[in-house]
Amino acid sequence: MSKIKVAVLGFGHLGKWHCQKVTAHSEIVDFVAIVEKFPAGQAAAKAAHPTVRVVSDVSEVINEIDAAIVVTPTSTHFELVTYLLNHNKHVFCEKPLCSNDAEASQLRGLAASKDVVIQVGHSERFHKAWESLRESLQSLPTPYSVRITRVAPFKGRATDVDVVQDLAIHDLDLLLYLFKQRPTSISARGLKIRTSKWDHAIIDLSLEDNCQAVVTVGRNATREVRELEVVSKSGTMTVDLFANKILNAGPGTFGDGSFVQEAAYPKRDHLLIEHDHFYRSIRDQVPAVVTYRDGFNAVHLVDCALKSLDLMAPVAVKFLE
Ligand SMILES: NC(=O)c1ccc[n+]([C@@H]2O[C@H](COP(=O)([O-])OP(=O)(O)OC[C@H]3O[C@@H](n4cnc5c(N)ncnc54)[C@H](O)[C@@H]3O)[C@@H](O)[C@H]2O)c1
Repeated sequence: MSKIKVAVLGFGHLGKWHCQKVTAHSEIVDFVAIVEKFPAGQAAAKAAHPTVRVVSDVSEVINEIDAAIVVTPTSTHFELVTYLLNHNKHVFCEKPLCSNDAEASQLRGLAASKDVVIQVGHSERFHKAWESLRESLQSLPTPYSVRITRVAPFKGRATDVDVVQDLAIHDLDLLLYLFKQRPTSISARGLKIRTSKWDHAIIDLSLEDNCQAVVTVGRNATREVRELEVVSKSGTMTVDLFANKILNAGPGTFGDGSFVQEAAYPKRDHLLIEHDHFYRSIRDQVPAVVTYRDGFNAVHLVDCALKSLDLMAPVAVKFLE
C-alpha cells in the first residue's frame, strides 16, 4: 500500500510537535511539506526538517497531498478546512474545528458531503484515566455536580481568540465525551484582564436530569491547574489532569480505614495517539476517533458561552449533531 502523503499547516508552538509525530510515522506517511505563512517560521521549519519542502501557501502543494494537519491559529481554521475539503483531502484539524456556529453551519454540509476522514484535535480525550473511568461516569447516579478547572499563568499564545475558544473548548468537549447528560443551558461570566478578549471565564452549565457543571478557565493565573471533580451520592472523584492522579472519596470508608484513596495513572503522548488514529482511519476507511460532529458540538457550546458572556444572561443549548 502506498504511503499517505501529508502536509502540516503551521509551524508554530504546536505545529513543531505535529511535525515530529508525522516523522515518527515515516513507515506509513510521506512527509510532503510544511506550509508556514511567515519567514521566521519557514526558517525554523527548514532547520528542523531539512529534507521536507517548506512553502508559504497550501495551494502550492494541494495537488501533491492526500491529507493535511491544520495547526494554524484558530481564526484561520474555517478557511483552510473549507479549502482542503473542497479539494477532497483528509483533514486533521486542531481544536477548535472553527470559530463559531456561523462558520460551523457553513462547514457542516461540506463535511457531510465528503468521503474523507475529518478528525478534530480534542486531545484531552486521550488521558489514560478515561479508559477506566468513562463507563462509570456515564452511569453516575443523578443528580451529580461536575467542576472543571483549567487555569495557567499567561503564556502569550492564542491571543487571536479568547480563553473560551482556546481553553474551555477542551472541557466542554470532555463534558460531552465523559457524561451521558447533555447541557441544556449555559450562563457565563468573565473578565478581560490582559487582552481585549475574555481572559478568565466561569461557565455554569445546566445538564439534563438536574445535573450541573461549572467550567472555570483562565490564562492569567498564578499557577497551572487542570482538574475535573465530580460529586454524587457515590462519592467524590477528582482527576488531576496535570499531575495524572485520581483521588476518590467514596460514600463509606476504604478497607485501610482511610476516607480518600489516591492512584496515579500513566502519562501518554496524546498527539502520537491522535496521529495513529488519523492514519489508521485513512488506511482502513473507518470513522475518525474524534469526528467533525464532535467538533461542531464543542464549537456550539463555546458559541453559547460567548453569547452568554456578552449578553450577561443564560443561553439555551441547541445541538444540531
Ligand atoms: N490540542 C491542544 O492541546 C492544543 C494545544 C495548543 C494549541 N492548539 C491549537 O493549535 C492551533 C495552533 O496553535 P499554536 O499555539 O501552535 O499557534 P502558533 O501561533 O504558535 O502557530 C501557528 C502557526 O501558523 C502559522 N500560520 C498562520 N496562518 C497560516 C496559514 N494560512 N498557513 C500556514 N501557516 C499559517 C503562523 O505563522 C504560526 O507559525 C490553534 O488552533 C490552537 O487552538 C491545540
